[in-house]
Amino acid sequence: MTRSALVTGASRGIGRGIALRLAAGGWGLTVAARDVDRLEATADELRGAGASEVLVVPADMADSAAVEAIVDSHAERYGALNAAILNAGMGVSGSIAEMPLRRLDKMVAVNLKAPMAIVQRALPLLRATAAADPERGVKVLALASITGVYSEPGLAAYGATKAALLSMIKTLNVEESGRGVLATAIAPGYVDTDMSGWVHDRIPPDSMITVDDIVELAAALLKMSSKSVISGLVIARAGIDGYRA
Ligand SMILES: NC(=O)c1ccc[n+]([C@@H]2O[C@H](COP(=O)([O-])OP(=O)(O)OC[C@H]3O[C@@H](n4cnc5c(N)ncnc54)[C@H](OP(=O)(O)O)[C@@H]3O)[C@@H](O)[C@H]2O)c1
Repeated sequence: MTRSALVTGASRGIGRGIALRLAAGGWGLTVAARDVDRLEATADELRGAGASEVLVVPADMADSAAVEAIVDSHAERYGALNAAILNAGMGVSGSIAEMPLRRLDKMVAVNLKAPMAIVQRALPLLRATAAADPERGVKVLALASITGVYSEPGLAAYGATKAALLSMIKTLNVEESGRGVLATAIAPGYVDTDMSGWVHDRIPPDSMITVDDIVELAAALLKMSSKSVISGLVIARAGIDGYRA
């Protein structure tokens, strides 16, 4: 049976990488992001890479109704959900002394509230899909950050939203893994994507974690059975102490 996944932030970076891997495996995909042209271009790539079907749902993760519409559109089209890739995220740097609180609100909305809203809305479908495939269950993969585990100066607000995401994923496992809904928060240091471009003056892109490595990890997690729970995985850049982004 064809498996299906929804991927938020699928148009670029890590989300695009994971979506391409799923496409190569023939998955049916629902992809979301804000920039429609870019998302449509990625959807064409995904079709070319082998996706059995690609449903495009433009959405801003800060808009609760749009977030729910991603799940509802997926449910209507596929009637099952084998994997939810909660990848869309945003970061604004700034010290606690100077961070405007409206920016914290936006990061909370995109990095925490939207993933939780997607899981909440999708749970009936996730449970039903897991019940139909008890050996494998279904997987929720959330892109957190190493800054949610170890503190990083200038990234208090972003790191706090990712720490909360890591916590939510742990509790999701406590509540749902017995029903076959298994979740992992992936918490990397700097990954070479558009998002990390702002630190290129001090951290060269070729010293960053590659999208391909995150994709390999995601693919392995999706292959695992429903017997093992991995709530969080920290991935550090080589050559540093392992506690910094
Ligand atoms: N790159 C890193 O160094 C790094 C490290 C640790 C964790 N992460 C996390 O990994 C995830 C992916 O990051 P990335 O590096 O792949 O980022 P990226 O290259 O900037 O791509 C971000 C993706 O998310 C979408 N997106 C951003 N804001 C959105 C919003 N408000 N609503 C809907 N979609 C939105 C973007 O499309 P649109 O702009 O068109 O919406 C794009 O598809 C994020 O959660 C990030 O926090 C990244």
